[in-house]
Amino acid sequence: MMILLHSLSFLLLILTIKYCSSLICYECNEIVITSSNLTTPSGCTKMNVDKTYCTITIVLHNNDIGYLNVESETAHQAFGYNEDFVLLGLTVKNNGSYEYGLTYHCLTDGCNEPKLSKIQLLFNSTIIDHYTNNIIHELYTITPEIPLICSNYTNSTTPDKCFSHDHKRAVCVTCVASIDGITNSVCMDCLTTSDLSTLLRDERAYMLKTRNTTNHNFELHCNKPYCNRMDSIERVKHLYRYNFDYDKFPPNSTSNLTLYNKNIIFCFIFILFIWNKF
Ligand SMILES: *[C@@H]1O[C@H](CO)[C@@H](O)[C@H](O)[C@H]1NC(C)=O
Ligand SMILES: *[C@@H]1O[C@H](CO)[C@@H](O)[C@H](O)[C@H]1NC(C)=O
Ligand SMILES: *[C@@H]1O[C@H](CO)[C@@H](O)[C@H](O)[C@H]1NC(C)=O
Ligand SMILES: *[C@@H]1O[C@H](CO)[C@@H](O)[C@H](O)[C@H]1NC(C)=O
Ligand SMILES: *[C@@H]1O[C@H](CO)[C@@H](O)[C@H](O)[C@H]1NC(C)=O
Ligand SMILES: *[C@@H]1O[C@H](CO)[C@@H](O)[C@H](O)[C@H]1NC(C)=O
Ligand SMILES: *[C@@H]1O[C@H](CO)[C@@H](O)[C@H](O)[C@H]1NC(C)=O
Ligand SMILES: *[C@@H]1O[C@H](CO)[C@@H](O)[C@H](O)[C@H]1NC(C)=O
Repeated sequence: MMILLHSLSFLLLILTIKYCSSLICYECNEIVITSSNLTTPSGCTKMNVDKTYCTITIVLHNNDIGYLNVESETAHQAFGYNEDFVLLGLTVKNNGSYEYGLTYHCLTDGCNEPKLSKIQLLFNSTIIDHYTNNIIHELYTITPEIPLICSNYTNSTTPDKCFSHDHKRAVCVTCVASIDGITNSVCMDCLTTSDLSTLLRDERAYMLKTRNTTNHNFELHCNKPYCNRMDSIERVKHLYRYNFDYDKFPPNSTSNLTLYNKNIIFCFIFILFIWNKF
């Protein structure tokens, strides 16, 4: 009997800790939007989730049609983003199409409530300017030289991760470059296959409390000689511009990961109470 009671209260303790450390986020149906018709999604529910961030995502293709998604995720914890942040990203394809997106990540219960004013403000606080044709011209040709000459360099402390594929580099067909958002190391290498549909992907994180901006992820695929060298990367980076207006967004104060959620005092007392039963 005592043992049963013990395991029961232990179970209760686990459940309580789990409940108290979870986050409440809105989750809605994904909807189609255009830049001139931002609307609020339907079918929203408040959910207790086992995730780190509540999110609101807006993605637009060719500055025109796209989607809006309200959900939750865990993906970016490894970057040490312990405060609310907005991730901005631009993707340029070799056929002239492009896509840009922004995801608002926040850490307190119900913080991704899909209010139209907030969604508009999020969108209005963001500028993504780009000269798509110049970017493509810098990186891509329909008649590439084969073999292609690519830069082969990394300052990563784990070069094996950079040159993971094909050390002999038999015949280069695609030059690649990436900048790691955690270590800030660059990696320049080549591929022996043609992988050129996405030429550029650049994501940056805008920390809302400290107002710090970090490189989150940068990837480049190209097929012009030495197009993955640092000078070429610098030239490409001058062909687009991001800006996030910290003074406009967010409308409310932002939160720390530690401050977290719910009725912390209630959870704490309840845990103490169960703990005492042991
Ligand atoms: C705006 O978007 C909503 C939701 O996608 C749609 O129902 C509505 O018809 C659109 N309005 C216009 C004017 O395009
Ligand atoms: C470019 O390619 C993407 C798929 O990679 C496709 O969805 C898009 O429609 C294409 N755009 C043009 C302008 O051909
Ligand atoms: C966002 O910008 C649009 C058009 O530029 C404007 O109509 C709207 O009022 C703005 N919304 C907010 C919340 O700033
Ligand atoms: C590229 O660099 C790596 C690491 O320095 C080296 O092992 C490899 O042989 C190089 N490949 C070529 C073709 O220079
Ligand atoms: C690697 O090189 C790039 C470009 O020169 C530089 O911005 C970055 O700080 C370097 N990273 C490390 C870890 O040395
Ligand atoms: C901003 O980020 C850099 C690099 O991640 C870090 O060294 C610096 O301390 C950060 N500044 C603030 C105010 O958090
Ligand atoms: C957050 O903003 C809303 C209006 O957008 C306001 O009603 C609310 O009181 C604000 N909350 C805080 C904590 O400032
Ligand atoms: C959030 O964390 C910062 C340090 O990272 C601290 O200075 C600040 O007081 C914290 N904010 C709250 C509301 O606890």
